[in-house]
Amino acid sequence: MAHQVRAVVARAKGAPVSLETIIVPDPGPGEALVKIEACGVCHTDLHYREGGINDDFPFLLGHEAAGIVESVGEGVTDVAPGDFVILNWRAVCGQCRACRRGRPQYCFNTHNAKQKMTLLDGTELSPALGIGAFAEKTLVAAGQCTKVDPAASAAAVGLLGCGVMAGIGAAINTGNVGRGDSVAVIGCGGVGDAAVVGSRLAGAAKIIAVDIDDRKLQTAKKLGATHTVNSRDSDAVEAIRELTGGFGADVVIEAVGRPETYQQAFYGRDLAGTVVLVGVPTPEMKLELPLLDVFGRGGALKSSWYGDCLPSRDFPMLVDLYLQGRLDLDAFVTETIALDEVEKAFERMHGGDVLRSVVVL
Ligand code: APR
Ligand code: ZN
Ligand code: ZN
Repeated sequence: MAHQVRAVVARAKGAPVSLETIIVPDPGPGEALVKIEACGVCHTDLHYREGGINDDFPFLLGHEAAGIVESVGEGVTDVAPGDFVILNWRAVCGQCRACRRGRPQYCFNTHNAKQKMTLLDGTELSPALGIGAFAEKTLVAAGQCTKVDPAASAAAVGLLGCGVMAGIGAAINTGNVGRGDSVAVIGCGGVGDAAVVGSRLAGAAKIIAVDIDDRKLQTAKKLGATHTVNSRDSDAVEAIRELTGGFGADVVIEAVGRPETYQQAFYGRDLAGTVVLVGVPTPEMKLELPLLDVFGRGGALKSSWYGDCLPSRDFPMLVDLYLQGRLDLDAFVTETIALDEVEKAFERMHGGDVLRSVVVL
């Protein structure tokens, strides 16, 4: 039996999204049907709508979500109907060269549901990041569902499905921030703020937030930044060095994705320190650095994909910390909205006051 549900669809490049009735098949082998409770509005959804990811319109948008498993297909044993789950876009395969070497957080062969969701006329939908959760129900690979404590707020913990996990993971997984470290975070949007929160969680002694917007810096401070630098008014590298005894931070997290902010991260870090790039650059961007500095400054230059998270390891742990009051995920939920308000949320995204608008169903 197929299900007819309401969902947010991007039909054509640049056109406003529309609320449509879509058809969601019952789960086949290895698949799960999830009743969505909440889904955050992410820049990536807007990027899909603008044709910036690929041309596979129509898209079923939404991917930072939590909900309840309604049914599962043949062979599914990790989740069962009634489970409260966070959706992820890293359903690890267990077979690829990364998985086989015990590094499933890098799985190179992640998968999604095999069956397609469609419009009423049968047109196949492309779900954003293989999820598509601005919908009353969605179909995913069972491995995309991670069971967590149902006492948590779906709007808050659903955000772990993407941007917030990317930021927290950039700090705790990729950057390996530890007790007593100094950290600088360049770019304090949702991802950078999550890196601030992750650094605090990991016991960083100093957390320097860098942005060109004072409102962003205020939010970062509320979330745990110990110092703020407006890099429009002052030189970011000098300011970071000044705040770290003249040396630079142990870990600098770049959460913008631009060559000039990467350079700031590179020179704002102490000798033998770590740079983590979690901001996503665009194809035309190029980086030029003296190779001697790359060698001479030592340390590690790393990129962080999805916060190098392993959903089965990280989601339940972070939800537990949230429930203990040690990880304020509610602070990332600026507003809750209805399914038909996604377009308005896209418009507000550029205003600078919103960390996340979250659709609650
Ligand atoms: N220097 C410092 N901060 C900057 C600069 C700059 N030159 N340019 C922009 N910023 C700040 C913005 O003011 C904003 O606070 O970077 C922040 C970016 O935040 P968002 O636009 O909200 O983006 P976010 O969702 O946090 O994602 C950041 O990570 O996952 C990637 O694709 C995502 O590349 C994006 C990045
Ligand atoms: Zn794999
Ligand atoms: Zn996202």
